[in-house]
Order: sequence, then structure tokens, then C-alpha cells
Amino acid sequence: MAEDLSIQTMISLVKQGKVPQHVAIIMDGNGRWARMRGLARTVGHKYGVEKLRDLLTVCKAIGIKYVTVYAFSTENWSRPKEEVETLMKLIVEFINKEIDNIKNEGARVHVLGDWSVLPTASRDAVAYAIDHTKDNTELHLNVALNYGGRAELVKAFKDMAAKVVAGELAIDDITESVIAEHLYTAGMPDPDLVIRTAGEMRLSNFLPYQSAYAELWISPANVFWPDFGKDVFLKAIMDYQKRDRRFGGLSSK
Ligand code: IPE
Ligand code: IPE
Ligand code: MG
Repeated sequence: MAEDLSIQTMISLVKQGKVPQHVAIIMDGNGRWARMRGLARTVGHKYGVEKLRDLLTVCKAIGIKYVTVYAFSTENWSRPKEEVETLMKLIVEFINKEIDNIKNEGARVHVLGDWSVLPTASRDAVAYAIDHTKDNTELHLNVALNYGGRAELVKAFKDMAAKVVAGELAIDDITESVIAEHLYTAGMPDPDLVIRTAGEMRLSNFLPYQSAYAELWISPANVFWPDFGKDVFLKAIMDYQKRDRRFGGLSSK
């Protein structure tokens, strides 16, 4: 009860300030969280997935329009087969368990990344999640799945080159916004804030083009993704609200 009250207070405070339109999150540290408890890494992933429900609730409460979560990178295929299989199964479990709640929250699911190469069951679940929520507009939940920023740029360059060859796009018409339109995030605002749990100070190939001017917020190294509660998220937003975003210009303060 006391915790709910302080969360409510934090939500009211945050709503008085400038709320980011788009927050992107590198959900890191599931393995370390499990190891500290003598558990298998896969158990950490299971607990991690549970945190998405609260995240959506707070995003909705404070009026964030886009939230992107990094669930599986193009580099994560190099992990042990058993771990990759568990992560692929968790996608299915997560969608089965949460999709009605996601739909009722008014959220629309998008996937960033090439999900056509996922195992059939995961692919079917993803297709269902996208289709089942396609009419929602209040909140956009982007799940980065088999996502890599460099792979995304390669795809964008190939798509643009094909249009140039076909005479549909002139080289001189390639601008920053045309490139943005060829990314998985086409039509969406850039992330204002990138959050990473578990203390690592790197982007790990996450949204490199879109995050060019994002504010970064890295949690302390002992806050792993399965520890990520509403309080941590709201703290990150409050810190963001104190930042002075200059975009290369002069301070507005
Ligand atoms: C993040 O946790 C989840 C995924 C990358 C899928 P990790 O599995 O990277 O956990 P650590 O970084 O090894 O602790
Ligand atoms: C980034 O975390 C990818 C996801 C959270 C899905 P990693 O754990 O894969 O990143 P590195 O290996 O520490 O850079
Ligand atoms: Mg990691």
C-alpha cells in the first residue's frame, strides 16, 4: 500500500514535467540476476519477461506513446542452443499469457527486426500479437526481436538502392528522413531516452541511427532487468526530465 502510494506520487510528479514520447530499453542482466541466486540463466529470462506488464502500465499512466524493448539481438544467436531455445519459447509464452492484457491496455505490438527467421511457433505467436492489436493507437509496444542496428541499416541501404535502380528514388532525394523511413521504426518518433539495466555502458547495436540524440540512462550495476520495477522506471524518467537537451544548439535554461 505504502509502495503504491509512492508510485502514485511519482506518477503525478512525472506528469507535471515533459514526458518522453518514446523510451527504448535494453533489458540486460537476466543472466547475472540468476547467477547471483544460484539459478540457471534461463530462469533469469523467465523472471525478466514478467517485468513487461508493469512497464506497460506505467507507460500508459504517464502518457508515453512509444516503448521499445530489446528482447533478442542479431548477436544473441551466438549463445548456447538451450538458452536460445528458451528465449524463443518465452516469446510464445509471453504472447499467450499477456496479449489480452496488452490489447486491453490499448497497446499495439510492432516487431523491429527480421522475425521471418524465427522458429515457426515463435513466428506464429508474433504474427498473432501484431494482428490482434493492430487497431490500437494509445501506446505502441515495439519488440526488437532478431534486431541489430547494423543489419537494419544494411536492409535500408539495399531497399533504397533497389528503388534507385528501379528509377523510383533519385540519389539526390536521399535525406536523413528518407533513411529513417526505410528503418523498422518508419513513421515513429526517435527515442528520447534509452534506458539500460545492469550497469553496462554500451548500446550493443541498439537503434544506432534513431538514438543519435537520445538521452542515456544506465541503471546501477546491481539493478538487473528482473529487478526493474515501476520505481526504477519512474526514477529514470525523473532524471530525464532534469536533462538539458541541446541538440547541438545552446541551452534553453
Ligand atoms: C538480457 O540479459 C536478455 C537478453 C539478452 C536476451 P542477459 O542474458 O544478457 O543477462 P547478462 O547480461 O548475461 O547478465
Ligand atoms: C543486449 O544485451 C541485447 C538485449 C538486451 C536483447 P547483451 O547482453 O546481448 O549485450 P552485450 O553482449 O553485453 O553487449
Ligand atoms: Mg547481457
